[in-house]
Amino acid sequence: MNKNRSPIIIGNDHAAYYLKGKIKEFILKRGIEVEDAGTDSDKSVDYPDFGIKVASMVSAGTYERGILLCGTGLGMSMVANKFANVRAALCGDMFSAIMSRRHNDSNILVMGARVIGESLAMEIVRVWLETPFEGGRHLARIEKFNNL
Ligand code: RB5
Repeated sequence: MNKNRSPIIIGNDHAAYYLKGKIKEFILKRGIEVEDAGTDSDKSVDYPDFGIKVASMVSAGTYERGILLCGTGLGMSMVANKFANVRAALCGDMFSAIMSRRHNDSNILVMGARVIGESLAMEIVRVWLETPFEGGRHLARIEKFNNL
């Protein structure tokens, strides 16, 4: 991960405002900067507004990776995967998070704040940050859909 600029952008809706704060703290403690695209409170908002902010910047390469959070993770993953070069992975377990990096080179991690607990969310973030992409045949597979 590029240490010279903020490599991660995070976004959420009202349902995940609390979890977003915890995840930001967790990432910052690991010495990685994280840009916060909002929302900044638990006041009801529309998740696509924040999903679009984050996914468009990852799509353009402004940020290397993104994290998106909403109540279920479903809406954010649907929005994010509309963008070219975005490979958003909705993860509720560590195995999926690891494999989303190894085989899919996921560049946006999506989680549902109403689905998983805080401790599991942190562990998912940890393995997702640490696990490298394997490349090889998996790269050829990604190239088949990356720019659709
Ligand atoms: C908000 O109530 C909820 O719909 C949203 O957080 C998310 O789960 C959408 O997919």
